[in-house]
Amino acid sequence: MATTISHTTSFDVEGIRKDFPILQRQVNGKPLVYFDNAATSQTPQVVIDAIVDYYSRYNANIHRGVHTLSQEATDAYEQARIKLQKHFNAAKAYEMILTSGTTHGINLVASGFSSLLKEGDEIIVSAMEHHSNIVPWQMLCEKTGAILRVIPMNEEGELVMSAYTALLSEKTRLVFCNHISNALGTVNPIEEIIEKAHDVGAAVLIDGAQACPHIKPDVQALDVDFYVASAHKMCGPTGVGVLYGKEKWLQELPPYQGGGEMIAEVTFEKTTYAGLPHKFEAGTPNICGGIAFGAAVDYLNGIGFDKIEAYENELLSYATKELLKIEGLRIYGTSGHKTSVISFNLEGIHPYDIGTIVDKLGIAVRTGHHCAQPVMDYYKIPGTVRASFAFYNTREEIDALVAAVKKAAQMLA
Ligand code: ALA
Repeated sequence: MATTISHTTSFDVEGIRKDFPILQRQVNGKPLVYFDNAATSQTPQVVIDAIVDYYSRYNANIHRGVHTLSQEATDAYEQARIKLQKHFNAAKAYEMILTSGTTHGINLVASGFSSLLKEGDEIIVSAMEHHSNIVPWQMLCEKTGAILRVIPMNEEGELVMSAYTALLSEKTRLVFCNHISNALGTVNPIEEIIEKAHDVGAAVLIDGAQACPHIKPDVQALDVDFYVASAHKMCGPTGVGVLYGKEKWLQELPPYQGGGEMIAEVTFEKTTYAGLPHKFEAGTPNICGGIAFGAAVDYLNGIGFDKIEAYENELLSYATKELLKIEGLRIYGTSGHKTSVISFNLEGIHPYDIGTIVDKLGIAVRTGHHCAQPVMDYYKIPGTVRASFAFYNTREEIDALVAAVKKAAQMLA
């Protein structure tokens, strides 16, 4: 019952929009303009079909039964893992740990490192992290006595790389950085971050939650130690994500949770753990979510990331140019290396008020600190309005946003 996709040559945005049932709906009597893609992306019919198909035909627990439904579900789930391996170009399918999302993947690694760090070791994070890439490391520091260091950012919303180099030393054990900032859209120089961390023997975790909807990372080419992402930002369902870990690290880290499926043998005297990936996948996983994640990755690759990236860059340039024509509008995050996120404010107006007015016109944006309070503190603002684009958005929708922001400016002046 899978829907066939046929976007081959040019970028057929109107054809692509037909794949997403939700884009047909109205909000407050206006056609929906969905610009909150950095929070969660929309779901194409082919992924909805994969979910319906699973629950209609072969819903069963996996890795546990000899019966047909269980075998079918296990095969489909493991196929999804292989799709993810290929997508991220991991060397082995068992290096792809299915998680409940990016936050789960980060916490799994942070928890594992609590047994490897000692007092005085240093952990480096960047100034533009999402809270999910700050709080687990602070908790890890509290537990181990390790020290948290921060790579500062500049006015353009870029990391100050000379300061990063100065922070690195033989004490550095771990470096954590997002690939793309959720609050500003900056694409961080992760190749350089990884290489420099490796020069001092530190491991690197890259948070790819915001990158994976837009670009296709190659974990072997990056030589990254850990890379995390969420399905729901990649046209998949919520509640599922992936942690890539180099085999040597996944072998070294202890399990995150104890439970069924992650063991080799259990007695009351001693338990031995299962091999990879099961050691990190205790309990019944999000089976349907994993399968649907595989369908989402197929869908995105069917369109092609080269086309997605080129089209979204066009949208970003157009929206930046048009929004900057509005008097009193300031964009936060002006790096030359950006993806399709525009964080902005209108002088003297609270972002929440703009968000509320544009919603009345059918336009969904996020307002607030975007779970990145240190970024807002840097700019000394309470928050921003954030419009984040996907490959199914159009120039006409950007025109609608610009008109709505102008209207909000008039109403709130
Ligand atoms: N991390 C998501 C965002 O930036 C929820 O909106």
